[in-house]
Amino acid sequence: MTGWRPGERQADVASMLRVDQAGEYGATRIYAGQLAVLRPNCPEAKMIARMAAQEQRHLARFDHLMAERRVRPTALQPLWNVAGFALGAATALMSEKAALACTDAIETEIDRHYGEQLDRLGDDDPELAADIAEFRAEEVEHRDTARAAGAAGAIGYPVLNAAIRAGCRLAIALSKRI
Ligand SMILES: [Fe+2]
Ligand SMILES: [Fe+2]
Repeated sequence: MTGWRPGERQADVASMLRVDQAGEYGATRIYAGQLAVLRPNCPEAKMIARMAAQEQRHLARFDHLMAERRVRPTALQPLWNVAGFALGAATALMSEKAALACTDAIETEIDRHYGEQLDRLGDDDPELAADIAEFRAEEVEHRDTARAAGAAGAIGYPVLNAAIRAGCRLAIALSKRI
C-alpha cells in the first residue's frame, strides 16, 4: 500500500494531488497558447514543444494517481483552461523572449512548490514523492533552458517575472482549496 493515513494526512495528500494536477494541466494550456501563436519552426517553438510533451506526461501521471486514489480535480479546471491558454498566447504575442520569460517565472514557482511538498511528505508517500522529485527536476530543466535561451532579455522582464510569479502563487493557493 501507499502512504495512506487516516484523517489529516490523507486530506493533505489529496490536496497535493489536486494542486499538482491543476498545475500540470495549466502548464499544458500555457504551452498550447504559446504554440498557437509562435511560428511553428522558430527555435522557441521547438523548445516549447519539447517541454509541452513533458508536461503532458506529468499531467497524465497525476490524472492516473487521482483516479486511483479517488481524489476529485479542482473545480477551477475551466478557469485554468482559459487563463493558462490566455497567458501563453499573450506572452507569445509580446515576443519569443517573453514566452520564455513566462516559463522562467512559472518554473521558478513550481520548483519552490514541489520542493515544499517534498519537505512536507518526508518519508510518508514514497510513490508520490518519487514522481514529484522526477517532475521537479524536469521543471528546473525547463526554467534553465528558458534562461539559457535569453528569457531575461524580454522587454519588461522584471515586471513580467513578478506578475507571472504572483499569478502562479495565487493559482497554487486557490487550487489547493477549491
Ligand atoms: Fe510539469
Ligand atoms: Fe514545466
